[in-house]
Amino acid sequence: MNIKTIGILTSGGDAPGINPSIRACVRTAIFHGLDVIGIQEGFDGLIRGEMEVLRARDVGGILQRGGTFLRTARCPEFMEHKGQRQALRELNESAIDAMIVIGGDGSMRGAHVLAEMGVKTIGIPASIDNDIWGTDMSLGVDTALNTIMEAVDKLRDTASSHQRAFLVVTMGRNCGYLALISGVICGAEVVIIPEKEIPLEDIASRIEQAYERGKTHAIIVMAEGASYSPDQVKCALEEGEVGFETRVTILGHVPRGGIPSAFDRMLATRMGVRAVEALIEGQTDKMVGLQGRVLVMRDLNEVTQRTRKVNLEFFDMAQILAR
Ligand code: ADP
Ligand code: F6P
Repeated sequence: MNIKTIGILTSGGDAPGINPSIRACVRTAIFHGLDVIGIQEGFDGLIRGEMEVLRARDVGGILQRGGTFLRTARCPEFMEHKGQRQALRELNESAIDAMIVIGGDGSMRGAHVLAEMGVKTIGIPASIDNDIWGTDMSLGVDTALNTIMEAVDKLRDTASSHQRAFLVVTMGRNCGYLALISGVICGAEVVIIPEKEIPLEDIASRIEQAYERGKTHAIIVMAEGASYSPDQVKCALEEGEVGFETRVTILGHVPRGGIPSAFDRMLATRMGVRAVEALIEGQTDKMVGLQGRVLVMRDLNEVTQRTRKVNLEFFDMAQILAR
C-alpha cells in the first residue's frame, strides 16, 4: 500500500544539520504529493499527540539555523511498552502511515521500535558524537569539529603568550571521535580518549618533552568520556617534575549549536531526500548512512546493535605530528 502521510520527529541531543534535513524531507515529500506532519519534542510529543501539518513555507528560513525547529526531548516513557502503544494510537489517529526519525543512536533504537510495531520508519543519523554505526558521518559532526577547531586555535594564542598548558574538554559521551579528530586538526600535544587511555604520568612527561623541544604552549584535548577528570589531568601537569601552569576549558554544549557547515547542510539535504525516497520505495526499518561519498541504507537492527569505532590510526598520527 502506498504511503500518504509522513510524520517527522527529532529526538535526543540536537545537532547542527537537523533543520536542513527536516526542510529536505518536507519539500521532497510535498513534491511527491505526500502530506507531512511535524511532531514536536521527539517521542514525548508523539505520545502526547503534539503535532501539526508542515507545508513548504513552514520550513522556509531554517536551512541556515542550528538546533531543531521541531524541538527535541529525551523521553523515557517511549522505552516502555505503555508509551510505545500510546505513540502508535496517536499515529493511527492522525493517519500517519510512515515516519522519519532524526537523532542519535538512542533515537535510532526508538525508530527501530516504531518499525517493529509495523510503522514504516526511516532514520537519519544526527549526533555530534559520531558514534552511530553505519555512517561515516552523522549530521552535526562537521560543524562541531569546526567550532572546536576555532576555539582551540584561539586558546593556542593565549597559551603561547603565557607559556601555559591548556586542557580542552570536548563532548562525545563515551566516544572519543570529536577529541581525536580535533587533536589531529588542531595539532594537540596530547589526546586523551576513552578508546586509548594513557597513564597520567605519561601525559605530564609528553608535555615536558614538548617544552624541551622548544614549544611555547601545550594543548591537550580530552574527551568527556575519558576515565580521568579534568582536575586529575590538571594536577598531574602542575604537580609533575617540571610543573606547568594549566588552564581547563570545558567546551560543553557550545559545539552542539551554531550555523550548520556547508558539509552538514549538503549531507542533511541528501539524507532528507533519500529518507523520503526510501519510504516511497516501500523501505522500512532502515537508516540512511554515508559510506565514502555515497548514501547507503542500513538495517536499523544492525545499527542499534553495533557501535561505530574511532580509527586509532589517527591517534598515532596525532602523536607523530605533535613532535
Ligand atoms: P540520542 O538519540 O541523542 O542518542 P538518547 O540516547 O537520549 O539520545 O535517546 C533519545 C530518545 O530515544 C530516548 O529518550 C527515548 O525516547 C528513545 N530511545 C532510546 N533508546 C530507546 C530504546 N531502547 N527503545 C525505545 N526508545 C528508545
Ligand atoms: O549525544 C550528544 C551529547 O551532546 C553528548 O556529547 C553529551 O554527553 C550529551 O549529549 C549531553 O546531554 P545533555 O544535552 O542532556 O546535557
